[in-house]
Amino acid sequence: MPFYQKQGIIPPKRHIVFENEEGGLYQEEVFGTAGFVGMTSTLYHVHPPTMVAEMGEPYPVAPEIAIEKNLKALSFNGYDVAQVDDYLRSRNTLFVNNDLHIGLAAPSKFSDGYFFKNADADEMIFIHHGSGILNTAFGQIPFEYGDYLIIPRGTVYQLDFDSTDNRLLYIESFSPIFTPKKYRNNFGQLLEHSPYCERDIKTPQNLKTNKELGEYKTLIKKQGMIYPYTYKNHPFDLVGWDGYNYPYAISIHDFEPITGRIHQPPPVHQQFEGNNFVVCSFVPRLYDYHPKSIPAPYHHSNIDSDELLYYVDGDFMSRNNVSKGQITLHPGGIPHGPHPGTQEKSIGKKSTSELAVMIDPFNPLKITRQAMNIEVKDYYKSWIH
Ligand SMILES: [Fe+2]
Repeated sequence: MPFYQKQGIIPPKRHIVFENEEGGLYQEEVFGTAGFVGMTSTLYHVHPPTMVAEMGEPYPVAPEIAIEKNLKALSFNGYDVAQVDDYLRSRNTLFVNNDLHIGLAAPSKFSDGYFFKNADADEMIFIHHGSGILNTAFGQIPFEYGDYLIIPRGTVYQLDFDSTDNRLLYIESFSPIFTPKKYRNNFGQLLEHSPYCERDIKTPQNLKTNKELGEYKTLIKKQGMIYPYTYKNHPFDLVGWDGYNYPYAISIHDFEPITGRIHQPPPVHQQFEGNNFVVCSFVPRLYDYHPKSIPAPYHHSNIDSDELLYYVDGDFMSRNNVSKGQITLHPGGIPHGPHPGTQEKSIGKKSTSELAVMIDPFNPLKITRQAMNIEVKDYYKSWIH
């Protein structure tokens, strides 16, 4: 995140003696995701972060691809993914390319036995249903319906859910996830035309230092494998940290929509960007106010990107018969547009209550077997009167 944060206690300079209460040294770790040229934070551990006690047998979790190449509009019932009482096992990877994986999960709990670290990918977790606390070494971030959690790769975390009914949409991005550059000035500050600002961003708080030694299982994901590590030190043993690289949350409900006299294009809805993809938030808003405006979108040719829409809540203006958690995937290469009758129906309407997350990957998505298990059949024919 491009603004400076500090929690706990840190020494007055980097890389100098920082004594603990026993006269020994706190253990400094520079934590970055783009070598030494990207954003970093400097962490101060009670114990070295290298105290590996055991390594279990690694096991594969790479998704099975059902459709390698696709030029067909598809739809999926996202709420049909099974509820599972373990966070990692609940995750269903549905769509993949070399830039990102997209999935859905319905965990009824995290599981007591481990911490998780994604060593390959920054994660964006959109909370469609449920609430709780994201626990990390940086501190805690409470989350609720509508929050996007952004977790930089390498961050060890647990999700402490308040109840068993949880619905998550997630992205694993193999590049850092940023706020869009067009919203920021040269210094990283979010500009006046940005639909959200720093005040909307929830940063880690309530740093807790876990000094005790023991056996702490951390499941580390890398290259489609899970590596079970057991450390002697608790992964959340920081006395302090500062810097720019840390997990944060921002709510879709704090996204202030940009509207116009005539239809505004999808880039006004942009929430995040990564390498070769963007994420947009479609939120409740007033409709276009030109006397002859058509609020529903026009047909358009997304020749350069796939368009994946995840329907969260409210009526979706351009679609008939969509349900909560439904996904549509309009592949790059063929035009798509509103369903029959929805343009006419939208004329004269004053506002919409739609809430949806759009993910546009600029490289084609492959579709997994898990996705095909929840497919809505024959969606591609749904534009015929
Ligand atoms: Fe579109």
